[in-house]
Amino acid sequence: MQIRLDKYLADMGVGTRSQVKQYIRKKQVLVNGSLPKGPEQKVELTDTVSFQGQVISWQEHEYFMFYKPAGCVSAGKDNYHKTVLDYFPENKRKDLFPVGRLDIDTEGLLLITNDGDLSHRLLSPKKHVPKTYFARVSGRVTEEEVQKFARGLEIGEKKPTLPARLEILASDPEVSLVELTITEGKFHQVKRMFEAVGKKVLYLKRIAMGDLRLDESLQTGEYRELTEEELEKFKQGTAQ
Ligand code: URA
Repeated sequence: MQIRLDKYLADMGVGTRSQVKQYIRKKQVLVNGSLPKGPEQKVELTDTVSFQGQVISWQEHEYFMFYKPAGCVSAGKDNYHKTVLDYFPENKRKDLFPVGRLDIDTEGLLLITNDGDLSHRLLSPKKHVPKTYFARVSGRVTEEEVQKFARGLEIGEKKPTLPARLEILASDPEVSLVELTITEGKFHQVKRMFEAVGKKVLYLKRIAMGDLRLDESLQTGEYRELTEEELEKFKQGTAQ
């Protein structure tokens, strides 16, 4: 596949499209050891492209773990709110998107990638990739409710929810701290499950998707690339 040199460099995060055009004009970029004709020159993805003496290899797909803060939307574009992609610098490739959605007031793990196949597999209702949430909930969550969540709840869909694992971390009459693992992704699912037992979710944070756990050293609004090991395990978990 061939691609314009300036796009190649911009997609690989060397700079914005206009910055990389400057770099090319200032002779800071080589293609297979030679000076390119200009930013519009086409390169093969297997060509050796270097910038300031450093080889910039082509990466087809990129995968980032993002710690979504409350107050931003998961959609790619939104005219009224900040979006998760606004937390990525301008020089990142333009085809990144969030896999799935979290509500505007939900925090936590969101995978940002340009890998459409992986996203499709992850979101497929047939796959049942487990998603684990930490929640602060109004009132005392009981063992009886743990059983109800395990059996499945009526939340106004055609079928009850699939069995979910609810773990009580702490509870008093006013508020409970829980971890909940669900294997579906229905609209507002966690909030609706607690509503079905007369409780309100006061705070919600996704802490894991499949084998991928939110890196607690990240602050809200920060992201980092997945390690190869994380990516391998994660892909295996979504392959079947
Ligand atoms: N369930 C919800 O209710 N909200 C989310 O953001 C994710 C799961």
